[in-house]
Amino acid sequence: MSAPRTPVLAGNWKMNLGPTEASRFFDDFLAAHPARADATVLFFPPAVSLAAARAALRDRADVRLGVQNVYWEAGGAFTGELSVPMAADAGAEYVLVGHSERRHVFGETVPQTVRKVRAVLDGGLVPVLCVGETLDERRAGRAEAVVDGQLIPVLGTLTQDEAARLLVAYEPVWAIGTGETASPADADAMHRAVRARLASAYGAEAARAIPVLYGGSVKPENARELLAQPEVDGVLVGGASMDPRGFARICAAG
Ligand code: 13P
Repeated sequence: MSAPRTPVLAGNWKMNLGPTEASRFFDDFLAAHPARADATVLFFPPAVSLAAARAALRDRADVRLGVQNVYWEAGGAFTGELSVPMAADAGAEYVLVGHSERRHVFGETVPQTVRKVRAVLDGGLVPVLCVGETLDERRAGRAEAVVDGQLIPVLGTLTQDEAARLLVAYEPVWAIGTGETASPADADAMHRAVRARLASAYGAEAARAIPVLYGGSVKPENARELLAQPEVDGVLVGGASMDPRGFARICAAG
């Protein structure tokens, strides 16, 4: 039996598109993307662009917002950080946790991702846990073990009800921003492994309901085939999510 499909079409702008560019983006994107109830369309702008994004989306409740990272404390002397209550107040409903750039550029550890997922859930937002292996790890035949190592410590801390709020994004590091995409079959195989891990933690039925997104050089040209894979429930798009018309095409493919 396949997963219930409400495709999740998510754009992660990373450290791009400040408030002025974000407003401009949504003018163009909303003109190209008609509202639809049968998909979740979602953006992760830089936190400083959330207010502009929220204003641009005031008449389009169908498009949701998230932040790219949070710190687990609710407030205090943590210069440069962003808390879950602040993100929620600014209009975020979703939070990326453990994006590969957080892990590999900023040294975020698995225990830190565990604390962040906890804070996100306790703060009433939705965590999108990002997992994925590097090229060396894949070549060494360790891709599944690496993903397990990122996934299992988090899964072990969630109740069944909390797991029902989780999203997972499989983003092979070697496919991010490189133009290399996992073949649809490879993506599907890893998604199957992630689903099996979710099933062993929460049971098959709960696992089927947890969206597992693919990310890594998703483009308008390859989105449809990736989204057609039985275990791919959505996409998390970096570079191509900054092109309003291109991202509207990706949304139309879901
Ligand atoms: P690209 O789509 O630019 O490869 O980035 C993927 C990604 O990291 C999304 O979070």
